[in-house]
Formats: sequence, structure tokens, C-alpha cells
Amino acid sequence: MTVPIPQEQILNDPIAASVVNSDPIEPQVSDALPANHEASVTPIAPSGEQKMPETILGLTGRPLPTFNAPGPVTSHGPAYIIAMTNQKGGVGKTTTTINLGAALAEAGRKVLMVDMDPQGSLSIGLGVNPDDLTGKRTVYDMLMDSTAVPASDVVMKTSVDGLDLLPANIQLSAAELRLAGEVAREYALDRAFESVRPLYDYILIDCQPSLGLLTVNALTAADGVVIPMECEFFALRGVEMLRETISKVQERLNNRLTIDGVLPTMVDARTLHTRETIQAVLDAFGDAVFHTTISRTVKFPETTKAGVSIIEQAPNSSGAQNYRNLAWELVARLETQGSVAK
Ligand SMILES: Nc1ncnc2c1ncn2[C@@H]1O[C@H](COP(=O)(O)OP(=O)(O)OP(=O)(O)O)[C@@H](O)[C@H]1O
Ligand SMILES: [Mg+2]
Repeated sequence: MTVPIPQEQILNDPIAASVVNSDPIEPQVSDALPANHEASVTPIAPSGEQKMPETILGLTGRPLPTFNAPGPVTSHGPAYIIAMTNQKGGVGKTTTTINLGAALAEAGRKVLMVDMDPQGSLSIGLGVNPDDLTGKRTVYDMLMDSTAVPASDVVMKTSVDGLDLLPANIQLSAAELRLAGEVAREYALDRAFESVRPLYDYILIDCQPSLGLLTVNALTAADGVVIPMECEFFALRGVEMLRETISKVQERLNNRLTIDGVLPTMVDARTLHTRETIQAVLDAFGDAVFHTTISRTVKFPETTKAGVSIIEQAPNSSGAQNYRNLAWELVARLETQGSVAK
């Protein structure tokens, strides 16, 4: 049911203004926005005067840029490495890894996804049965000794061309303890990536909901962090701790690490609560917040069960469009910064 928003609030609140007229799960890709899209502010020009161009406001209340599909690449690598991090559980890290990966692969990029969570949700979400990994090489073996077990021995193909996986299962929970006594324990993943980095355009690491040694390994190996944030009341709880961890890793272990973006997930634009949360996230992170937001839809739990991405299962759904738009925005951001080649 749509909750009506009082008119005075709409006038004072740019987010409400953009939301009230728009379908909350409307795709944000450029070709999906008709010229008369209602989530826009059209200045009223007296007759005879030239009309000003429309400004379309996104759900984050800022003018919404248009993102286009990235141009084709003629060669692959070295990979730009992204850690999907938030120590809060269930915010959409794994869902974002799978679907951003699939959207980047759809855009012709070679992508390696890395399961750094002993729950193995990324592997399960891509259709790998954790029991089938018994006796096979996993991320655990690679972290313990990447000379004896190089990443290439662990890589599995997925059902999508150009989208590969380094799988993990519960055995990975032992890695944290076993690494603790090692020299340069924070660099185990970084070392393991040396052999595969030249082969891929993007490596996406799905972190567990903690800031322990496995996540520190991911941050040490990464060029950037994407922080998915569920749009609910406690979204910003613990964010200071996350920022401190990122700063410490930047200072002590990996000075190239940056925050690539904060991604509002499970957005239900009809609720005032969601819009207030997005505003709070914007206040905390400013322009680091992506223009793209991910709508709440039951399609995601369904695709997780099916072991495929939403891009494959429902390519025209709003969820697929959301993640496609995220991939396009991310690539545009990284190209503008010179972090990836155009
Ligand atoms: N946009 C969405 N709309 C509805 N459900 C979603 C959405 N994104 C993710 N989910 C569902 O929410 C649950 C948690 O998502 P996900 O596993 O991606 O979070 P996570 O941050 O990786 O969790 P964890 O911290 O346990 O690793 C899953 O059941 C997933 O299918
Ligand atoms: Mg997860």
C-alpha cells in the first residue's frame, strides 16, 4: 500500500518530491526513463519563454546523472579489486557481489568473485553445494599456502561466461586462527591474487559480517571498498568502527585503499523511514553514496535459492536493472578517477 506523503513535506523535501511521483522499483537506466518521467522537477516557464531542461532527482535527492553501458574492452586485466564490506549482517553484501559481478560480466568484463565468508553464501548463491567442495581446493587452502595451492587451482567457472568463483565453505573459519600466528598474516589474500590479477578486469571479494582477520585480508588486498547498507533504522550503527578499520588498513597495510561507494539496499521508497535513512547515509558519506539504489524485492531471495544471478534469471526485472545501473555507475566512477582504463 502506498503511504501518502503530506504536500508540505513534499515541497520541503527533495527526496520526497522525487519519490512521491515515482514507482519505487522503477529502473534507473537511462533508456528506462521516459522524457515525461514524473520524478522530475520542471521549472514552470511563462508562455513564450524557452523551457529549461528537466532535472531528474534520484532517490538520494541529488540530480540523477545518466549512466551508459561501458564501452567494450579489447584486452583484460590487471584487475581492480573491490571488497564488499559491512560488519552488519544481512545488508546485501553477497547479493551485491553476485549481481554486480553478473552485470560487469554482461558488460564484457572478466570478473572473479571471491568467497571470504565461512558461511559460503556466495558459493551457495552461485549454485555450488558446500558438500561438493569436500576434498576440493578452496579459498582456505589458497590462504594457507598460495605457493602450493595457487588461485588458479581453486577457480571454478560459473554458468555465466566471464564470471568465475573462488569458493569457500565452513573450513574457512579455521583460517582466522591458523593465520593469526603467521608472519604478514594480513597479506595472505593479497599474495594469492598475484597470479590471477592479470587475468581479470574486476575481482569482487564477498566479506563475512565481521571486521576480523579475513576481512582485514580482503581490505589489504583491495583497491576499493563498496559498503552495502540496508535502509533501516540501525543502518548507521557500527559505521564508525568500519571507517576506523578502513583508515587503519589505509595507514598501516594498504595505502591505495579507497571507499568506492556506499550502496543503499533493500530500498522501499514509499516509506518515510527509508527516505530518512537514505538522508542519514548521505549526511554521513556525502558523494561517496552511489546514485543507484537497490529496491527491496522478493526476487532476490528467489534467485539466491535458484543459485543464479538476477541478471540471468530475470534480466528485465527492476532488480536486474538496479544492478546493471550500479555496474555502469561504478565503471564510470572508476574511469573518471583513472582507477580503471577507459
Ligand atoms: N534488494 C533486496 N530485496 C529483498 N531481499 C534482499 C535484497 N538484497 C538481499 N536480499 C535478501 O536479504 C538476505 C540477506 O542478503 P545477503 O545475504 O546478500 O546479505 P549479506 O550482507 O551478504 O549477509 P551476511 O552478513 O550474512 O553475509 C538474503 O536472503 C537476500 O536474498
Ligand atoms: Mg553474505
